[in-house]
Amino acid sequence: MLRIRDLSKDFGGLRAISGVSIAVGEGEMVGIIGPNGAGKSTLFNLITGNLRPTAGRIEFMGSSIVGKKPHAIAGIGIGRTFQLNPLFAEFTVLENVQASFFLKPKSSLIATFFGLPSYRRNEAIVTRKAQEILELLGLDDVKDEPAKSLPQGHQKLLGIARALATQPRLLLLDEPLGGLSRTEIDSTMQVLQELRTRGMTILLVEHNMIVMDIVDRIHVLDFGCQIASGTMAELRRNPAVIEAYFGAG
Ligand SMILES: Nc1ncnc2c1ncn2[C@@H]1O[C@H](COP(=O)(O)OP(=O)(O)OP(=O)(O)O)[C@@H](O)[C@H]1O
Ligand SMILES: [Mg+2]
Repeated sequence: MLRIRDLSKDFGGLRAISGVSIAVGEGEMVGIIGPNGAGKSTLFNLITGNLRPTAGRIEFMGSSIVGKKPHAIAGIGIGRTFQLNPLFAEFTVLENVQASFFLKPKSSLIATFFGLPSYRRNEAIVTRKAQEILELLGLDDVKDEPAKSLPQGHQKLLGIARALATQPRLLLLDEPLGGLSRTEIDSTMQVLQELRTRGMTILLVEHNMIVMDIVDRIHVLDFGCQIASGTMAELRRNPAVIEAYFGAG
C-alpha cells in the first residue's frame, strides 16, 4: 500500500531524514520508534505532502505521491493525526468528527473503511457515520461535550476519530499514546487493536514501547537514519537499537 524508498529531507544543513525505506502492506500495522528529533514527524509530513522530500520516492497504491498537495493526498486515502492534535476546541466531539468528513475532496471517492457512499454530503448519513466512529472509539458518551473540556486521553481519541472521518485506507498516527495516563493508554491500545482487527492499515510513531506488542514490524530512526528494522524480538537483541533508544547500559 505504501512504499517509501531512499527518502531524504534536509532543513538547511540538517538532514532530518536520511535514506529511509519503509513498506506497509494492506492490513498491516507498522511502528516507527526513535528518540526525540529522530525525524519521525518529519517522515509523516513528507508522506502527507506537508513537506517535500529532498530526495527519494513515496508510492501509495502503486503511484508516486511526491509533489501532491496535502488535501490531494488525504483525498486518495491517507489519513493522519498530528502530534499536537489540533481540534476545534469550541465544537462538540460529534461536530469535530462531522466536520472532518468534509475534509476529503469529492472528486476521488474510493472504497473505504467506513464505506461512506457518494451522497456523503447528506447530513443525516454523515451524522450516522460520525456516531459509528465515536462508538468504535468509545466516545459516544461524550459526543455533546465541547472538545476542549475532554481529558487528554479522550482528546487524543478524538484526533483519531477525526482522521477516520476522512475515510483513510492508510492511517498515520503520530504518538497516539503521548501524554496519556495508564488507564488512557490501556483504552487507546484496545482501540488500536480493534482498528487492526477491522483491517485498517496503520503506520504509527510512538515513544511508548507498549505499542510494540501489537505491531507487525518496527523501524528505528536515529538522527534521521533508519538504524534497524524488524520484529520486536529481533530489535531487542540489536545492539545499535539498545544504544540509540535505551541509552548505553
Ligand atoms: N520545519 C522544520 N524546519 C527546520 N527543522 C525542522 C523542521 N521540522 C523538523 N525539524 C528538525 O528536524 C529534526 C527532526 O524533527 P522531528 O520533529 O521530525 O522529530 P521527531 O522524531 O518527531 O521528534 P519528537 O519525538 O520530539 O516528536 C529535528 O532536529 C527538528 O528540529
Ligand atoms: Mg514528532
